[in-house]
Amino acid sequence: MVASLTAALCRLAAKKVKSFSFARILNPINNYSICAAGAARLSHLHVPKMLIFAQKSPKMTGKSPKESYTIMNELVLPNDTNTLNNLMGGRLLHWMDIAAAISAQKHCNRIVVTASVDNVSFQSPIKLGDVISIEAKVTRAFTTSVEVRMDVWAQNIPSGTKVKSNEAYYTFVALDADGQKTLVPALLPETDEEIALFEGALRRRQLRLILSGKMKPDDATELKALFMGSQLPLDLGD
Ligand SMILES: CC(C)(COP(=O)(O)OP(=O)(O)OC[C@H]1O[C@@H](n2cnc3c(N)ncnc32)[C@H](O)[C@@H]1OP(=O)(O)O)[C@@H](O)C(=O)NCCC(=O)NCCS
Repeated sequence: MVASLTAALCRLAAKKVKSFSFARILNPINNYSICAAGAARLSHLHVPKMLIFAQKSPKMTGKSPKESYTIMNELVLPNDTNTLNNLMGGRLLHWMDIAAAISAQKHCNRIVVTASVDNVSFQSPIKLGDVISIEAKVTRAFTTSVEVRMDVWAQNIPSGTKVKSNEAYYTFVALDADGQKTLVPALLPETDEEIALFEGALRRRQLRLILSGKMKPDDATELKALFMGSQLPLDLGD
C-alpha cells in the first residue's frame, strides 16, 4: 500500500518536472534512492517528506548501511611518519581511500573509483606506534555513485588512550565490467543516525558538485534552503 502510494506520488510529481527525474524515479533497481532523490528535487511541489522514508515496504529493494560497514586497522610505522615522528597526512588519506573503497565495493558489488574527497582536517598529530582504526560505511546511494562516511581513531595501546582523529566523506562511482558507470543499489537507512546522515548526504552532494563545477548553485535546492533559513536542519547532516 505504502509502496504503491509512493510510486504513484513519485510518478505524479515527476510528470511536473523534467524528464530526467521521471526516468530516475521509475528505475526499479534503485527505487528507494530514486524516490528520495525525486522527492527532494520536488520539495517545492510539496511532496510529503515522509515519501523519502517509504522504504519500509518489502517490495523496495536496497541494502542496509550495515552491509557496507568496514573497519581497517593500521599500525603507524617509521616509514609512515615525518621527521617529527608523526603520521604523514598523505599516508592517512591513502588508508582512508582504501577503507572507503572497500566499503563502497561491499555496497555496490562492483569495482569503484574515487570521484571526490571532501574536506579533511587533521585535528591532532598521530604518533609513531599508534594504531589507526578507520570505520567506513555508505551513507547514501545516488544513481551511479555512493557517499561513504569515515570516522578515524588513533589508539595508543600501551597508554590505553583512543582519540578521534578525523571524520570525512568520500564519493565513489561504480563501474561495470567494461569500465562504464553503472547503477548502484539503493541504501536503506535504519537508525536515527543513519537517517540523519542519509538526509545530509543530499546537501553534501550538492556542495561538492557545485565546487567541482558539475552543478549550478541555482539547482542546489536543498543547499540553498539551508542558507536561506528554511525548516531544514542547520547543518550538513553530520
Ligand atoms: C568519477 C568519474 C567516473 C565520473 O565520470 P563522469 O562521466 O565525469 O561523471 P558524471 O558527471 O556523469 O557523473 C557520474 C556520477 O559521478 C558523480 N560525480 C562526478 N563528479 C563528482 C564529484 N566531483 N564529486 C562527487 N560526485 C561526482 C556524479 O554526481 C554522478 O553521480 P550519480 O550518477 O550518482 O548522480 C570520472 O570522472 C572518472 O573516471 N574519474 C577518475 C576516477 C579515478 O581515477 N579516481 C582515482 C583518482 S586518484
